[in-house]
Amino acid sequence: MYSTLLFDLADGIARITINRPDKLNALNATVIGELAQAAERVETDAEVRGVILTGAGNKAFVAGADISELARQGPFDGKARALAGQQMMRRFERCGKPVIAAVNGFALGGGCELAMACHVRIASESARFGQPEVKLGIGPGYGGTVRLPRLVGKGRALELLLTGAMIDAQEAWRIGLVNRVAPADRLLDETESLLRSIVEQGPLAVRSVLECVETGYDLSVDQALLLEANHFGLLSATADMREGAAAFLEKRKPAFSGQ
Ligand code: COA
Repeated sequence: MYSTLLFDLADGIARITINRPDKLNALNATVIGELAQAAERVETDAEVRGVILTGAGNKAFVAGADISELARQGPFDGKARALAGQQMMRRFERCGKPVIAAVNGFALGGGCELAMACHVRIASESARFGQPEVKLGIGPGYGGTVRLPRLVGKGRALELLLTGAMIDAQEAWRIGLVNRVAPADRLLDETESLLRSIVEQGPLAVRSVLECVETGYDLSVDQALLLEANHFGLLSATADMREGAAAFLEKRKPAFSGQ
């Protein structure tokens, strides 16, 4: 079904692996298109409860947009390329299910941007991060100027964006770009264990939290609080909320139905 991705679904967890290891999993137009299809499946397939996004091989998560394609683009197809990548990443960000990036090596340019569009990032000790676009005489096109300042603060983001410098996993953790660092051979297990600790919660509650944070982050405090109160009210009408409260009071594990 895909020529540049592996999509494995097991026990509710979809593992999507970008599979161009000979080109360090660089994002060409085919990869962007297939990732958009995968994001659509994640959003619409009820079997999928959470996603791990990673790169094939042990060297790279994604080493950026495919520079051989960038080299040939003009202003209009450049803009179209940026919009296509942005829309694909936004689709993962807004899919309503938790998406965790397991960053197994270089996450540069579009790779760092793809990881930032995921809800949580776990890096292997060998991962390297950067936004090296300025070194190529171009700027980020897939949200680097938007999400990096939100994650690490404007000053640190500008230093990375303006110098194109690479940082290691420990530095990425120190500045808040990644949530955790794991030994390379534990990366996928630790990512899956974190994801399972999310997908075993009430699915409607998980979806609601994702929507409140993704939407509320860009609203005024009063609007975001109202959004949160509306979700709180809506969740109070669900069977899952009754089950969660009853299970607590009866000192047992809840059995959520997603209703
Ligand atoms: N686009 C297209 N091809 C890429 C690529 C990219 N972003 N990144 C790596 N590749 C290709 C290389 O051209 C090479 O292909 P080849 O074997 O056919 O020559 C292959 O992947 C391996 O990369 P190589 O550069 O030989 O590995 P390295 O270990 O010496 O260096 C990096 C690793 C990540 C430091 C280096 O590949 C790099 O700087 N890549 C570009 C990063 C970048 O600027 N990304 C932002 C793009 S906007």
